[in-house]
Amino acid sequence: MNYEDALGLMHEYTKNEALRKHMYAVEAAMRSYARKYGEDEEKWAIVAILHDFDYEMYPTAPDHPSKGSEILKEKGYPEDVRRAILGHASYMNVPRDSKVAQVLYACDELCGFINACAIIRPNKIVDLEVSSVKKKLKDKAFARNVNREEIIQGAQELGVPLDEHIQFVIEAMRQNADRLGL
Ligand SMILES: [Fe+2]
Ligand SMILES: [Fe+2]
Repeated sequence: MNYEDALGLMHEYTKNEALRKHMYAVEAAMRSYARKYGEDEEKWAIVAILHDFDYEMYPTAPDHPSKGSEILKEKGYPEDVRRAILGHASYMNVPRDSKVAQVLYACDELCGFINACAIIRPNKIVDLEVSSVKKKLKDKAFARNVNREEIIQGAQELGVPLDEHIQFVIEAMRQNADRLGL
């Protein structure tokens, strides 16, 4: 298992550029958290880059992410990677009992939301602040497909205050602004 192969697999299954960028955003956040916690950065990046790789082919629950997980199993991806990926979909009822699973869950919806906040700004993510993200979280009409409950719950499970978590993820995404088109 290595990052290049995982990226290749994701590109093979995912042609939609916005969906690819979503996985890059989660990758940026998870790499930063892996460094912060002294964990295996490449493994966490692989989890991030593959967490929605099957979504374009299997967009409905529970096919996503269970079909993808079967593909990963055939390709020899380890149990902990597949378990973390299954855990990001709460309806799978796979407990998020590892740090990598908790971080994936905490970053997934938030990355989508931060992207939605940044993309409509003249300077995109360059000058996006936590206060602006929090204001938008309260605006139910904005990015209504993003589940606010999951963002809050994700930070709680991770044990990081929400503001701090938002700030951390903004910074991680900002460092990768070019790749994210932000
Ligand atoms: Fe997903
Ligand atoms: Fe996702």
